[in-house]
Amino acid sequence: MSSGFTHHTVLLEETLSVLQPRDGARYFDGTCGGAGHSVAILKASGPTGFLYACDADPDAIAAASERLAPFEGRHELRRMNFAEAGTFVPEASCAGALLDLGVSSHQLDTASRGFSFQHEGPLDMRMSPSNPVTAATVVNTWPADDLMRLFWENGEDNGRRITRAIDQERQVRPFETTRQLAEAVARVSPRGPRGKDPATRVFQALRIAVNDEQGALERGLRAAWSLLAPGGVLAIITFHSGEDRQVKDFFRVESRDYDLPPGEEDFPHLRLPRPARGRMVQRKAIVPSEEELRRNPRSRSAQLRALVKL
Ligand SMILES: C[S@@+](CC[C@H](N)C(=O)[O-])C[C@H]1O[C@@H](n2cnc3c(N)ncnc32)[C@H](O)[C@@H]1O
Repeated sequence: MSSGFTHHTVLLEETLSVLQPRDGARYFDGTCGGAGHSVAILKASGPTGFLYACDADPDAIAAASERLAPFEGRHELRRMNFAEAGTFVPEASCAGALLDLGVSSHQLDTASRGFSFQHEGPLDMRMSPSNPVTAATVVNTWPADDLMRLFWENGEDNGRRITRAIDQERQVRPFETTRQLAEAVARVSPRGPRGKDPATRVFQALRIAVNDEQGALERGLRAAWSLLAPGGVLAIITFHSGEDRQVKDFFRVESRDYDLPPGEEDFPHLRLPRPARGRMVQRKAIVPSEEELRRNPRSRSAQLRALVKL
């Protein structure tokens, strides 16, 4: 299984340049996937740097365990949700933590996982097999209003028409396959401006819901941040605007020097001064070079942000 695992690691040099791995320090990779970043961090922190790595997906863990084998004694690998990182890694122990969000190419390209509308497969989309909710559960059982909100929140302009089409079809026969859903979407929504398949956003929205990606990121940001020692760097790679907004919000709160009473807008007279807890490495997100975009077109939406713990 693991030897067939392919994934082109994105923003590798850029990630190393913000993490600056050093000998003897500890690191956390919460989305080790095919271990591209993990291996690079271990090489750069040799001979005694240590890596805690996890992933929710058993295929990723199988691939990573093979690829990390040469670094025996310098890593610990676990299949788990990064939101639970606090149960795995000691608090304030790490010099760097990385979350490279979203799906791996292995997940997208394995038809039986059901992540891609380009391959016929079951409507699954689970990162973790212990998750009881599949994409079929969401499509077949969520109330129409909830489906519409999900599509709308994930940037799908045709959410209303798509939901109506899904709702009509599921009353006749439940959705079981990726193609069945992609065809239902295609019947009611024209191809996007740059030839973008109308199913792209629908599939992405379902994947986010199935894996509770928003909830996991919210908890994962806090968990990864608390693993860092002062001076440690939190590096996050996002692939869509919703994720990036969550990361920017978290970074903004950690890098400002005041709190606000719960539920209050940011009015200067309500600010409760406190020391800033973080400093952004740079304000603008780091994006792939032209060369990386040519080599790996799937990197096109990647954005890296980093926050140093004070
Ligand atoms: C883009 S890939 C990571 C690739 C990896 N950095 C590499 O270079 O090979 C994203 C990985 O994150 C994992 N993942 C997504 N959400 C997760 C979560 N909440 N907890 C743990 N792993 C998660 C996926 O299973 C997938 O393997």
